[in-house]
Order: sequence, then C-alpha cells, then structure tokens
Amino acid sequence: MKRNTKNQTHVSEEEIVKQYRFMDLIKEINAEYEMKSGRKRLVFLQSFGCQMNENDSERLWGMLSEMGYCEGKNSEESDVIIFNTCCVRENAEEKVYGHLGALKKQKADNPEKIIAVCGCMMQQGHVVETIKKKYRHVGLVFGTHNLYKFPELLYNAINENSPVIDVDESPGSITEGLPIERKDTIKAWVTVMYGCNNFCSYCIVPYVRGRERSRSIEDIVNEVEELGRKNYKEITLLGQNVNSYGKDFADNTSFASLLRELNNIEGIERIRFLTSHPKDLTEDIILAMRDLDKLCEHLHLPIQAGSTRILESMNRKYTKEDYLNLVGKIREKIPNIALTTDIIVGYPGETEEDFEDTLDVLRKVRYDFAYTFLYSKRTGTPAAKNENQVSEEVKKARFERLLEVQNKISKEINDKLLGTTEEILVEGLSKNSVWNYTGRTRTNKIVNFKGSKELVGKLVKVKITGTQTWSLEGEVISW
Ligand code: SAH
Ligand code: SF4
Ligand code: F3S
Repeated sequence: MKRNTKNQTHVSEEEIVKQYRFMDLIKEINAEYEMKSGRKRLVFLQSFGCQMNENDSERLWGMLSEMGYCEGKNSEESDVIIFNTCCVRENAEEKVYGHLGALKKQKADNPEKIIAVCGCMMQQGHVVETIKKKYRHVGLVFGTHNLYKFPELLYNAINENSPVIDVDESPGSITEGLPIERKDTIKAWVTVMYGCNNFCSYCIVPYVRGRERSRSIEDIVNEVEELGRKNYKEITLLGQNVNSYGKDFADNTSFASLLRELNNIEGIERIRFLTSHPKDLTEDIILAMRDLDKLCEHLHLPIQAGSTRILESMNRKYTKEDYLNLVGKIREKIPNIALTTDIIVGYPGETEEDFEDTLDVLRKVRYDFAYTFLYSKRTGTPAAKNENQVSEEVKKARFERLLEVQNKISKEINDKLLGTTEEILVEGLSKNSVWNYTGRTRTNKIVNFKGSKELVGKLVKVKITGTQTWSLEGEVISW
C-alpha cells in the first residue's frame, strides 16, 4: 500500500484494477441486455448532501458510464436507483426515508429493479439496521469509505437474491484512479482532502467521514491539469476544513503551497475553496489569496454562533473576538473580499443574550450571504446529550429574526454594486425568465443578463444594472 503519512493508506492499485474488472463484467451483462431488449439500462441517481456528496456522485457516474449505464429521467423508468445520502441534519435523513418508502411499490411491480443507498447516512449503524428492518426492498447498501467498491457490490447485488450490505467502519482511506463524469463542463469540484478531526459538538460529519486525510499535491495537480486541458475554467477545492490540508504530511506541505501550485495551471481561470475553519485560517493562506491572481475574492468562513460561551460549548476553538479580529485581518489584506458564513440557530443552551451576540456579529461583519440552519439533534454527538435543548418555537422565531437582519445587509451590499463593472464567468442559461443567461462574479455573486450561447464558458465584463437580495442583473459591455 502507498502511504503518504504514517497512518494513512491509499486503496491499492490492485484493488482498483479489480474494480475495473467488475465494471467490465457488468458492461457485458448490460450489452447483452441491450441486444435482447433494444434498450439501455438506465440509472436514477440522486444526491442529498453537500458538494463533497455531489462530487462522490460524479465518481459513481464515472463508474456507471464505464459499465454502460445511461441516465434515467426518473425512478420509474430506471433499472438502478441510487440515493447518495446526507445526515448532517434530521430533515436530510427524513427526505431519504420518504423517498425510499415511495419506491416500495416500484420494486414490488418490478423485482429486477435495484435500489441502492450510499453516502454519509449509511456510516451510522442504526440507519443500516432501520434499512434492514423497514426497507427490505433496498438491495444494496454501502458507505462513504468504500465507494470505490461500488462495481463489485453492484455486481453482487445483480447476482444475489438477498441485500448486499457493506459498510467500512475504518477511519477511511484515499482512493485515486476511479473514473469521473462531471455534471458541469465549465466549473469542477476537486476534493483535496477527506474527513474531519474537529468534532464540533453538534456535528455528525467526523463520525461518518472519518479522519482528515489529504490527497497528494501531485494527484491534485494532475486532476486540475486535465481539467484545464478539457477547457474547464473554474475549480472549487473541497474539504471539510481545507485549511488543514497537508497537516498529515511529513513535510511542510500546506494549503497555501497547494494554492500556489494550482495557480500556475494553464486554462484554469478561477480557483475557489470550501470550507475554511476560522481556527486554521493562517496568514499564509490570506496572503496566497491576496497575491495569486486566480484565487477569487470570496471566503466562506463559518462562524456557527456569535457568543463565545456557545462557541466554547460547540468546541469551535475560537472566541467572538478572535473571529472578528480574523475578519479584520482578512479585510485589511483583501479589502474587496466577499464573506459568507454558516450559522446554527438554537444550539442547546443558547439564551436570548447569546443569540444577540450572533446578530451583533452579522451587523459587524456584514456578510454577503449567510447559510442559516436550525440546530438539529444528531445521535452520537455530544450536543445531543445536552439537556438544555431550545424549543422549536424559540428556534424558529430566532431564525426569522436572523434572516431579516441578514437579508437587509445582503441587499445593501448588492445595492452598492449598481453601476459598477464586474467580470463574470458565464455559466449558461438562467432559470430566470427575463434574463436568459447567468454567470458569477469573482465574489461568487450570481449575475443574470441578456446574452447568447457563444458567451458560455467565457469571462465577460458586465455593467451591473439591477440588484436583488441574492442576485444581480447586468448588461454585457465587453468580452
Ligand atoms: N466542514 C464545514 C461544513 C460542515 S456541514 C464546516 O466546518 O464549516 C455544513 C454546515 O452544517 C455547518 O457549517 C453547520 O453550520 C451545519 N450543521 C452541522 N451540523 C449541524 C446540526 N447538527 N444542526 C444544524 N446545523 C448543522
Ligand atoms: Fe463538522 Fe466542525 Fe468538522 Fe465542519 S469542522 S465538518 S462543522 S466537525
Ligand atoms: Fe456532506 Fe451531509 Fe455528508 S453535509 S459530508 S453529505 S453528512
């Protein structure tokens, strides 16, 4: 096994070769089916989670394409249905159970259909037990750590009558060499590290994604160079806490050194990353953002709560003052940076005074956007055992107040952009009926505008002619 640190392992090349053999076997089965029936086998794959979850789905699509599957429009017409699940909040899990329940009849009508569930939810023993007991129509269960084994497991599920259940409970490894089929042709996600070591008291992620492990700079550079050759213009580096990239290497590799390498790659025009933990955002990362031309002026810096008392209880390892000082430092170096954040409302023990601290941070930092969540109790996390749970009613009322403050700030920030010229990367057709095309500024703001097909994938200068709370409107002035 290849090792990049003393305790982390890569899935071996032999194992990957073995999985390619299973892909070939299924491809033959599917080709035979197509000869007989005149139709290709279809797959309906749905992601329920974050960008990492979506990036995993792109790996699944890579393998599915190798096996000769095509994308089905819905579960009814598809032969294989895959739910790539998330368990960060209760409603994410409920959605999956709801969708699974709805498939019972489809499976009864068509016993050949394979229903598979994978992803973070499956890394929890109690979920697998529930699936075994109550969702007997599920034919395949696997987790986040053994995604690479999908071809072998699917092969077994096709050939066996009983459900195939395989969840790896190790702290996780790194897989290279799997095929990938990306959703987009202009922007790409590149996972640079897996897992999390932070154990914030409310969060289930470290339990279902294992310990932090960084991909080698070489592997990441190869992937991004290939994206450049394929005409991708923007990459977003993914990790639960990208700032700790390289901490598990024996040398001095850091996230800033990775950014410097990636900035040199031809073809790629914009680099973004998610997510940064404030405790690990070092000066060299801030300087890299300031100095490297492809690094966009946007930072997602989750605060979670404004009260130092709550932050301590959350095990976030910074105080309100630390956070505000950090924002001051960032703005001093990169004055035009857009900041976004994550906030949890109603963490156990949150008083009115604590909540006021959160509002105070919003007013002081003036985020461009905040992702706000109602605290959700996650079995197995320390916060779930806390007896001071905040009532749903109080949580919801605080949530509304928070949105009101934030929306006003977002709109005010956007209003200031009226009449300015921004560079946008044109992404494609807009969902908005008035403005047919859409793109994003370097600060990650959506700009809708009247455009045409040949602008897609290009960097275009637009004049901002209108502002909304969550988007802007513009007019192309040059490209
Ligand atoms: N690793 C990232 C994001 C993890 S999950 C980070 O540390 O910022 C994305 C967001 O979900 C978190 O930032 C947090 O705001 C929210 N979240 C996590 N667990 C939650 C819970 N139990 N209830 C409500 N929101 C939660
Ligand atoms: Fe969860 Fe905290 Fe890790 Fe983010 S840093 S994934 S919130 S434990
Ligand atoms: Fe992402 Fe949800 Fe897993 S947020 S890491 S898919 S628990």
